[in-house]
Amino acid sequence: MGVSILTIIYIIAAVTFIMGLKMMSNPKTARKGNTTAGIGMLFAIFGTIFLFKDETGANLGNYTWIFGGLLIGAIAGIIMAKKVKMTAMPEMVSMFNGLGGASAALISTVEFNRLVKDNFQITVGETGVAAANELLVLPVTAGTLLILFSGLVLGGITFSGSVIAWGKLSGRVKDFAFKGQHLINIGLLILAIGLAAYVTANKTEVSPVWFYLVLILSLIYGIFFVLPIGGADMPVVISLLNSLSGISAACSGFLYNNKVILTGGILVGAAGTILTVLMCRAMNRSLLNVLIGSFGGSQTSGSDKGPMQHKEISLNDAAVVMSFANKVIVVPGYGLAVAQAQHACHELEKLLESKGVQVKYAIHPVAGRMPGHMNVLLAEADVSYEKLLEMEVANQEFPTTDVVLVLGANDVVNPAAKHDQASPIYGMPILDVESARMVIVNKRSMKPGYAGIENELFYQPKTSMLFGDAKKALNDLVTEIKSI
Ligand code: TAP
Repeated sequence: MGVSILTIIYIIAAVTFIMGLKMMSNPKTARKGNTTAGIGMLFAIFGTIFLFKDETGANLGNYTWIFGGLLIGAIAGIIMAKKVKMTAMPEMVSMFNGLGGASAALISTVEFNRLVKDNFQITVGETGVAAANELLVLPVTAGTLLILFSGLVLGGITFSGSVIAWGKLSGRVKDFAFKGQHLINIGLLILAIGLAAYVTANKTEVSPVWFYLVLILSLIYGIFFVLPIGGADMPVVISLLNSLSGISAACSGFLYNNKVILTGGILVGAAGTILTVLMCRAMNRSLLNVLIGSFGGSQTSGSDKGPMQHKEISLNDAAVVMSFANKVIVVPGYGLAVAQAQHACHELEKLLESKGVQVKYAIHPVAGRMPGHMNVLLAEADVSYEKLLEMEVANQEFPTTDVVLVLGANDVVNPAAKHDQASPIYGMPILDVESARMVIVNKRSMKPGYAGIENELFYQPKTSMLFGDAKKALNDLVTEIKSI
């Protein structure tokens, strides 16, 4: 009886995951989507704890361990979620991906150890402990071993790769690459998969040491795979690791024949994969490039144009040109998020519109530090979703735009992506703001953005710099425009 209720709970939970994911595709419903899926997960967890019964009819037991773990995890999660700044969200996502991968790798390890223990009871019996180099016969199907190793390899790569990604995003770990690294990366991956395939195919003579060797190789591959990736390419890696964490969780679902883990894992894996493909397109990178960690790095632009002059615009002049424009397009970037200037930005938009100016926003797919960063920020400030233009649409609108106001964006408006082959962002589609009549760039200094490269847009005749923190600059602009 308990099992059938549990099955119903799992189905309900799976439905909430799908509904939640659908709601997350729109900033207006995203919050609700998160809560819906979270409630479904809560039911699945407590349903499993209290209703699950094994073949002998016994409950899960181990309640002290289970509730101890739940309590510690919940407290850590609440503290992290409360403390995290919007700009540090990608790091947190990276950490979550890593923990998902670690869980999958741990499940594979626990299950392998159980197999080995059971097997020793069969083959060694009461004679004692196994020697590390002793060969075993594993009494499971090749399919089970395949799933077990898939969870181990994918989980291991996801864990170590995500820890490095977290370190890089938070500035704790620097890019690191050496000659021939791509070959070593491929070699490590082939070794890990090859050894796992060998054990799976020859399960009649297996050493437990090989299992741990596969784990170590996967962990090292994860580190080497993410370490050299830098510049503008991290978002692709984050979403790839996200999809790997989902697939490794799905492997655990297979192992335990647990439909809710399976569904959750497949949904995360599929969503992450779709996002990876979209991000690859947005950055103009191939997936293969991502897999062997061969792009980005800490290259710098090859073109040295010597000293260049930029010109500044005063608050008053900026206020005047914007007030008398027909159309203004705002380009938000990472700096807007840092300054938490989304509300001030919405204020400016409303004020300009009250003066008859048409205001829209141009959203680059990788503006900020995570997919959808700008959409979420602007939605938080109640900016209408209809005003947000995707890159392709915005690029068609710039030629008929009087003023483009770039707010804390840099790489995503850098024309070097179009022509400078030595630039780490070469090939990345950008917002073509230079085709507008006038560009005003707000940032605090002439320092480069995430990719660490100079931006020639800032020195073009039609560009004027409005220096200062985005929030303060916007508030001051609002005051100036009101006084016109
Ligand atoms: P960035 O190129 O990083 O430029 C942001 C600019 O904001 C900086 O040049 C900085 O200049 C300015 N800034 C910082 N704080 C500010 C403040 N308080 N007020 C005003 N300006 C401020 O940002 P972007 O154009 O949005 O491009 C995003 C970059 O991040 C791309 O290279 C992208 O590939 C990468 N990336 C994206 C993602 C995703 S998925 N979105 C994930 C990881 C990495 P000052 O210091 O002079 O103020």
